[in-house]
Amino acid sequence: MSRIRSIALLISLALSCALFLLMAGAASFADEPPVSTAQGLEAWQQVYSVLTHPRCINCHTATHYPQQGDDRHRHFANVVRGPANTGVPGLNCSSCHQKANADSTGVPGGHGWHLAPLSMKEDLMGSLKSAELMPMP
Ligand code: HEC
Ligand code: HEC
Repeated sequence: MSRIRSIALLISLALSCALFLLMAGAASFADEPPVSTAQGLEAWQQVYSVLTHPRCINCHTATHYPQQGDDRHRHFANVVRGPANTGVPGLNCSSCHQKANADSTGVPGGHGWHLAPLSMKEDLMGSLKSAELMPMP
């Protein structure tokens, strides 16, 4: 058998296995008893604890300045939101926050670092509070 053919055979074998596992997985999923409201609420609580984490809210804030740390204290150096959520000339977020975390200085980074716009409701927590009140089926 040529090398190409045996490689092709191997690949199709692997694909069939994957498909089988996928179908087996789907079948066992269908067999599982429905999730209870208590289990659902417990799972939601885990998601909620991430979405409302202070370190997220620090950028998803209703204030005109970013916040820092677990206590959500005001960002140092009097950094302000600015008209486009990116700071103001001379003190733009990207002057200090690069595309990636800067290990040498400890400044966290990320592509296009800026505050979430005020239009995203009061803050992430505010919009989630209302989601929490939605009736459970
Ligand atoms: C560095 C600031 C920053 C941090 C920290 C941050 N976000 Fe964001 N987030 C943003 C910005 C900015 C946007 C909106 C992007 C845009 O301008 O369209 C956004 C958008 C979102 C959206 C989409 C909202 C919508 O209505 O479309 C969600 C959800 C979100 N962020 C969740 C989180 C969570 C969860 C965390 C923490 C794990 C987090 N964010 C941390 C800046 C941040
Ligand atoms: C003068 C430089 C500088 C500017 C300008 C600046 N930052 Fe920062 N920022 C920092 C440094 C340094 C830290 C980390 C400080 C520390 O660890 O105590 C930080 C931390 C943060 C944190 C906290 C991250 C965390 O892990 O809790 C957020 C959020 C943040 N900045 C958002 C912004 C936003 C949004 C802007 C623009 C509106 C901005 N920063 C402008 C230097 C700056």
